[in-house]
Amino acid sequence: EKGGYKHFMHKEIHEQPRAIADTLRGRMLLTEGDVHFETWNLTQEQVQTFTKVTILACGTSWHSGVAGKHMIESLARLPVEVELASEFRYRDPIVEKSHLVIAISQSGETADTLAAFKEAKRLGAHTMAICNVIGSAMTREANLHVLTNAGPEIGVASTKAFTTQLVTLYLLAVKLGRMRGTLSVEGAQEHLTHLTQVPKMIEDVLKCEPQVKRVAREFMNAQDFLFLGRGPMHPVALEGALKLKEISYIHAEGYAGGEMKHGPIALIDEKMPVVVIAPKQPHIAYEKIIGNIEEVRARGGKVIAILDEDDNQADTLADHVIRIPAACALLAPVVATIPLQLLAYHVAEMRGNDVDQPRNLAKSVTVE
Ligand code: M6R
Repeated sequence: EKGGYKHFMHKEIHEQPRAIADTLRGRMLLTEGDVHFETWNLTQEQVQTFTKVTILACGTSWHSGVAGKHMIESLARLPVEVELASEFRYRDPIVEKSHLVIAISQSGETADTLAAFKEAKRLGAHTMAICNVIGSAMTREANLHVLTNAGPEIGVASTKAFTTQLVTLYLLAVKLGRMRGTLSVEGAQEHLTHLTQVPKMIEDVLKCEPQVKRVAREFMNAQDFLFLGRGPMHPVALEGALKLKEISYIHAEGYAGGEMKHGPIALIDEKMPVVVIAPKQPHIAYEKIIGNIEEVRARGGKVIAILDEDDNQADTLADHVIRIPAACALLAPVVATIPLQLLAYHVAEMRGNDVDQPRNLAKSVTVE
């Protein structure tokens, strides 16, 4: 059932080209420059009255929400707040009828997300669930649900659920942008064309595995890791760090590049590997992230840089370079996540850990 792989997680990482193709199937209307969700029930009028989007999620799904904020704000020009579902109910949240509240959850059963979602619904928001499990509690609770279609995810560490959430959020941003009139037909066609290329891009980026394995071998005994990214790469840094701590038990932190000088820079010495996610994209502040690489190097830190395949500006600065195919800014998170999943997997596997069932963790956290 693991299809020749030693662990479900490894199989699920490699399933991503197919999983993403399944997420996209039947939903991209290229000629019309529109998106079709089977379950969609919002009218243009409703969509135009939305004043805000609130995303509720936990863990990896929260990271996809942070990336989704960039997508929705950029294409639909709606302000998006991304909330940790576990915090939401315990303050007095501002929820109005004109708000669209989106729960993101692989399982659709996470107790904190479900409770926050119910509370938002009670307060009068319009609710949408983005889930991977048909018929799950959140899909039943929601006014509208959209499935990610990743197929069953068995490994406790979420991989294909995350990347399919990102793609679903991208489709949603295009849909909302069209309905709100902030995105033209041609604009939407361009975004959808980028999306059609993603499954092939993931296939290509998976070829970096031997290189990632070498990095994993060199740093498998590190005590700490730092992950840096800016703009849409910030949630990727957070996700890379979460993946590593979950299954390898190495302490790791994800930071927005600009925040490094406000604290974590004090940690950097020659024992500290720093993964810098730096594809060359406008909203990723490329020059600034290269500055971060220089700052790390100046303090003896070891830099593992995730760079576009044709980037020959930064490659001499890093100790290790992992190449990824160039994608547009909003899709780069999908592509850049793959080497980080592989890094966490190989470090954990080399350390002899139980990759699919890491200690203390459950696949679905059904307690608040
Ligand atoms: O099923 P959900 O997406 O609601 O789960 C949320 C988190 O528990 C989950 O993403 C967790 O952080 C994963 N173990 C991450 O790999």
